[in-house]
Amino acid sequence: MISRTTIDNVFETARVEEVIGDYVQLKKSGSNFKGLSPFTDERSPSFMVSPVKQIWKDFSSGKGGNVVAFLMEHEHFTYPEAIKYLAKKYGIEIEETVQTDEMKEAADERESLYLVSEFAKDYFHNTLLNTDIGKAIGHSYFKERGFTDETIKTFQLGYSMDEWEAFTSHAIKKGYKLEFLEKTGLSIVKGEKQFDRFKGRVMFPIQSMSGRTLGFGGRILKTDKKAAKYLNSPESDIYHKSKVLYGIYHAKQSIAKEDNCFLVEGYTDVIQFYQSGVKNVVSSSGTALTPDQIRLVNRLTKNITVLFDGDAAGLRASLRGVDLILEQGMNVRICTFPEGEDPDSFAKNNTLEQLTTFLEENAKDFISFKASILAADAKNDPLKKAATIRDMVESIAKIPDVIKREVYIQECSRIMDISEEVLFNTLAQILQKVQRDANKQKPDAPKPFDIVSTPKTAAKKVDILWELERKIIELLLLYGDEEEEFEDLLLETNEEGEIGLKPEKVTSKVFEKIFLDLQDDEVEFANEEFKDVYYDIIAHLNQKQEVQLTTFLNQLAPEKSAAISTILMEDEKYVLHDWERKEIYVRKKKHGISQMVSETILNLRRHLISQKIVELSTSVKENAGTDTKEFLQSIIDYQGLKYVLTEKLRRVL
Ligand code: CTP
Ligand code: MN
Repeated sequence: MISRTTIDNVFETARVEEVIGDYVQLKKSGSNFKGLSPFTDERSPSFMVSPVKQIWKDFSSGKGGNVVAFLMEHEHFTYPEAIKYLAKKYGIEIEETVQTDEMKEAADERESLYLVSEFAKDYFHNTLLNTDIGKAIGHSYFKERGFTDETIKTFQLGYSMDEWEAFTSHAIKKGYKLEFLEKTGLSIVKGEKQFDRFKGRVMFPIQSMSGRTLGFGGRILKTDKKAAKYLNSPESDIYHKSKVLYGIYHAKQSIAKEDNCFLVEGYTDVIQFYQSGVKNVVSSSGTALTPDQIRLVNRLTKNITVLFDGDAAGLRASLRGVDLILEQGMNVRICTFPEGEDPDSFAKNNTLEQLTTFLEENAKDFISFKASILAADAKNDPLKKAATIRDMVESIAKIPDVIKREVYIQECSRIMDISEEVLFNTLAQILQKVQRDANKQKPDAPKPFDIVSTPKTAAKKVDILWELERKIIELLLLYGDEEEEFEDLLLETNEEGEIGLKPEKVTSKVFEKIFLDLQDDEVEFANEEFKDVYYDIIAHLNQKQEVQLTTFLNQLAPEKSAAISTILMEDEKYVLHDWERKEIYVRKKKHGISQMVSETILNLRRHLISQKIVELSTSVKENAGTDTKEFLQSIIDYQGLKYVLTEKLRRVL
């Protein structure tokens, strides 16, 4: 692991504007830089870099973060890779932390597996290109499939001799340990004997996102009914088949640029597409699509187009993959090929223009796709039609975004000629069942207080909360350590015994005010990420008494720091639109910090308390007959508190 000191050193030295300047042409604009987004094809610049805050924000794609986030986003580096890149750029020596022996051993072992795989890849590739047998058998096979030499080189295709231990003996002679040859599955060890697993096959190395060789697929050449057509590396410490996508290393740039990813079934489909010029293509290599694989793509784009062979027998099973994609909030389209064709053959037999036209014209969103299956099945069979509609709504229910769900319901209603109302009811039923099942699985979750609500009101409720919580974070980040005068209202009883509120001025730091006030009601943030960040910021402010924004940002996990950059860059939007020059008045953030803080806290507290009262009332109703005295007392207490808060809010506004 890279030591904390090195990481801190890198962050201290690296300048976000310099690093990004290597990739994007930046122009000075006020205190910021701006340029054309490297993530979209845009004409007018919406990409901002702030040298002061050491963050960047791309207003056209919504991405943003610190210098490392940029490298992870643009170069698809992992976190350590980005740190190493920066260290190299700025001439910083990388210090590794001391590892325990076990950690070291595990890391060493994995490194050995990588090395042996890399060696095997080169060996097979070399055999294909530079030996007589390799040329005669392997190379000519790929030629016949229409692969150019350039393609063979790009994908590092190879050939494994049709001999029992040609590769294994060579590797051992070169000093690679049998242990690692066996663990990667390249060699099979039986007692005293060793064999080459991929004997007599053409080889497809499987690479990680960053280009390391993880494993192999090997295709048999003769048509042998008994042997499998493709043989793949077994699972190992470096190869987890559910977590890799074939072709991702070569496709990643293009996936991000095109903002779409084609998903095909086989190795040769990927290669043929790539060679034709459609480079944003990956394959799950014959296995059912997994959530981890989808996540790999999700890092690059929100859009997947799934391509099915014309004769896909397992179409139904493959459709489960579609639901998994929807579940991750991604957009999915589906395209099938004509009978008897697969992406490989279609790309091979058509020009690039024909191919892209075909894809454009035939990719359907999943609703239309499911509808078209029905049309093929039996359109006039009411039972089948009902089943299809239910199937569609079940897919729609997987979509996390409420608005998108609604749009699809409308689409479904139109295509299937059925009322939206019925569809919404079905959706609500499915969602409730999903919720019930989820509750059953998490017995320790405090569920009895749950209000069964329709999706619509639920969404609204979340939004107000989300806004208020976000605002709190923003205030903490921007003014957390500033000293402000707040007007506190203290409860007091006057001579007549009436309870009233007496104003009192107190001076405190913004973060202390926020923390103490929120603590009063024992309420927690609803949004888990905000909650996390909230405690991070409070802890930080508490220790240092002064928040160094950039230091704080750099210590956060990349996703968190991206979320926060978004908050921090919101106000830069005004600069972007040049509003200042157009003399449109933009409210200065500094104006009335104390009021903004009080207002936000009070609104949040009041909102949370109202919610609590509703929860409690519901559970009183549900538990009628049992002892509800405690609940009732809580409701009264909370109502009192709500009254006080409302009063306070009136005074502040
Ligand atoms: N596959 C596999 N094992 C098999 C058959 C298939 O792992 N016994 C995987 C391979 O990754 C293959 C994919 O499933 O690329 C798709 O299978 P198929 O359509 O049968 O192969 P094609 O890619 O069309 O292969 P080819 O064109 O070489 O026949
Ligand atoms: Mn094929």
